Amino acid sequence: MTRPIRLVGLSGSLRKASVNTAVLRAAAELLPEGATLDILSIRDVPFYDGDVEAAGIPAAVTALQQAILAADGLVIASPEYNHSVPGVLKNAIDWLSRTQPKPFVGKPLAIMGASPGRLGTARMQPHLRQIFVALDADTLNKPELMIGGASQAIVDGRLTDPKIRELVGRQMAALCARIETTGGQA
Ligand SMILES: Cc1cc2nc3c(=O)[nH]c(=O)nc-3n(C[C@H](O)[C@H](O)[C@H](O)COP(=O)(O)O)c2cc1C
Repeated sequence: MTRPIRLVGLSGSLRKASVNTAVLRAAAELLPEGATLDILSIRDVPFYDGDVEAAGIPAAVTALQQAILAADGLVIASPEYNHSVPGVLKNAIDWLSRTQPKPFVGKPLAIMGASPGRLGTARMQPHLRQIFVALDADTLNKPELMIGGASQAIVDGRLTDPKIRELVGRQMAALCARIETTGGQA
């Protein structure tokens, strides 16, 4: 690695025992040498409201925007709700899309998701990708990371399954390689 790489991570789940936040914590442990991953929270982002926006972008949104702008890349781990993107995550993305400079444009992005069911967020991820087409992010296509059977793979808040840990490490390596190739902006 030619320079330190700074990543930030967002979880699409607010709950303490979230398997998705656990996978993000694992990603932070499985980075290439010289890379770091800070996990940010979307908890304080209010519901999007154009009247609130007209009065000024909320501080929680500006803080996330600045952190994403300053990072070399972004990692999102999200549950699947009703075959799609959880409302809290879509709401945070919608707010961030209203900020200037736009934090997602050209930003290298890795998407991952975990669910107790078999499909491991396979129906959510294409929807999330589609949103980031609108926002012109540089979303990694491969390797995909869809973690089914998350209740077995994540024990006491820790991703223990060695095969899945290896896949997480491979995705983080691919994200860092993309950042090194593009300089962080596609
Ligand atoms: C409103 C809601 C809808 C859900 N829909 C799905 C779904 O479509 N597919 C799925 O695999 N799991 C679904 N689940 C189950 C979640 O995958 C499960 O709660 C998961 O643990 C949430 O992720 P977290 O542990 O990171 O909070 C749903 C859960 C909720 C609360």
